[in-house]
Amino acid sequence: MSLILRRFTPQDLAKVVYINRRCLPENYSESFFMQLYRSFPEAFLVADDGGDVVAYIMCRVERGFFGSPKRGHVISIAVLPQHRRRGIAYALMVEAMKALHALGAEECYLEVRVSNKPAISLYEKLGFKIDRRVHGYYLDGEDAYIMRRKLPLEDEILNRPVRGISRGINPPRSVEGGNE
Ligand code: ACO
Ligand code: ZN
Repeated sequence: MSLILRRFTPQDLAKVVYINRRCLPENYSESFFMQLYRSFPEAFLVADDGGDVVAYIMCRVERGFFGSPKRGHVISIAVLPQHRRRGIAYALMVEAMKALHALGAEECYLEVRVSNKPAISLYEKLGFKIDRRVHGYYLDGEDAYIMRRKLPLEDEILNRPVRGISRGINPPRSVEGGNE
């Protein structure tokens, strides 16, 4: 069965919290996940492998000072270890950035540990560049790179083939008795 991308729903909360704790030292309260979901549901996506959530991305749209453009901020992305190197993170990033642009963001940025080679490679492949290094950004003292890129994405990035992942955002899985 092929893997689909769809919006997060509250029924996914426990699994997304689990994936976050399993994959990253930066962990958040359930209420933080829910707050992002309520504010930017278009840019909180999961990868669903036949009913099993194996990855997520969550983002926020931020506005700077008066007159400055809106910016999309990728807060967190993670893929369970046994599902990596299949293009899932790439596909989640593409769909999230399309959603951020549709919400008015003219650029996208994120923070990443300077030692996180897999993630940095992923972001470079998506056209992000290192903007600056923030000393001691993480709780354990590690530095962060701030990486950014303009939106929208180029066709070359949008059209790069993703193996076994259906394109676009699918509707939420129907829930018995639900009306979504
Ligand atoms: N080594 C080198 N390059 C890599 C690696 C790796 N281990 N993983 C991904 N890449 C690069 C490659 O260019 C890859 O393309 P290729 O497979 O054709 O060579 C490209 O990224 C796309 O890879 P995907 O398969 O889409 O990435 P994946 O689904 O495996 O997820 C991720 C990548 C999210 C970094 C995953 O390794 C993970 O969950 N890591 C732990 C959590 C984490 O570090 N999250 C990011 C923190 S920063 C933030 O959240 C803003
Ligand atoms: Zn951040």
